[in-house]
Amino acid sequence: MTPGIRPGAVDDAAGEERFLELITSDSRVEPTDWMPEAYRKTLVRQISQHAHSEIIGMQPEGNWITRAPSLKRKAILMAKVQDEAGHGLYLYSAAQTLGTDRDTMFEQLITGAAKYSSIFNYLTPTWADMGSIGWLVDGAAICNQVPLCRASYGPYARAMVRICKEESFHQRQGFEILLALMNGSESQRAMAQESVNRWYAPALMMFGPPDADSPNSRQSMDWKIKRFSNDELRQRFVDMLVPQAEALGVTLPDPDLKWNEERGHYDFGELDWSEFYDVLKGNGQANAVRLNTRRAAHEGGAWVREAARAYADKQAAAAADLELAS
Ligand SMILES: [Fe+2]
Ligand SMILES: [Fe+2]
Repeated sequence: MTPGIRPGAVDDAAGEERFLELITSDSRVEPTDWMPEAYRKTLVRQISQHAHSEIIGMQPEGNWITRAPSLKRKAILMAKVQDEAGHGLYLYSAAQTLGTDRDTMFEQLITGAAKYSSIFNYLTPTWADMGSIGWLVDGAAICNQVPLCRASYGPYARAMVRICKEESFHQRQGFEILLALMNGSESQRAMAQESVNRWYAPALMMFGPPDADSPNSRQSMDWKIKRFSNDELRQRFVDMLVPQAEALGVTLPDPDLKWNEERGHYDFGELDWSEFYDVLKGNGQANAVRLNTRRAAHEGGAWVREAARAYADKQAAAAADLELAS
């Protein structure tokens, strides 16, 4: 048995053997394959949280569509927010292949039973925040998600391939918003810097708590769902950001940030994890707003779901009639 792999209830010895073989040989587990219950549960939790994050993540930027400074900026932002909706839908579909239906996942989101990424509980008071979200938040998402394209569960890995292509476009559009501001007036440069100051640390926290405080990570790595630890990914992100910040001309708000010749990486300061846990507990700037908005959208969309269901029933009845007649 692969070290560290702890299968759930073994009701099918051959299935388990095949599962372990797939994991060790770095092949993909597909929905019809036997899998340990704990593997299934971990995936449902991770994929549905990821889907919820995409859907809730539409709000902080959706707020700016009508206020974006030009028609072109509005069109770009609208396309970006639509991409996020698409990401949510691919991911809900991937989670459904594990036997959890979409209504259950929606219910968990709007009742607050399910989590989504805490980063979306921060407010977006300035236009520069659209730049910071693209550059830092989508940037961190890419670092996290590129290795997920090789996740051991096939439907998740395949959804991530397409998502990552779109995320890298998002990151560049955010960078470009900040670049335009940094090439602008004194007050535009100040707006960009102030926004980067607010988003930098929360973006670094998107990788999750330090490895020592992340007990489930080890199991996810043994199952090859996760390929790198939280701290490894965070380091990779910081190393990627520094030259980009230099190109932009913004300062990253960390006095301890400096190149470490020996390690071949940038050293960076301690993060304030008490803030992370506080936002996670529901005390962020916008936790209540995000959930209320999502709930209202869900309730407001009830008639659409009803109409779609009635239409599908009608089509099915017509198809049945046709079959009877033939
Ligand atoms: Fe996304
Ligand atoms: Fe994105």
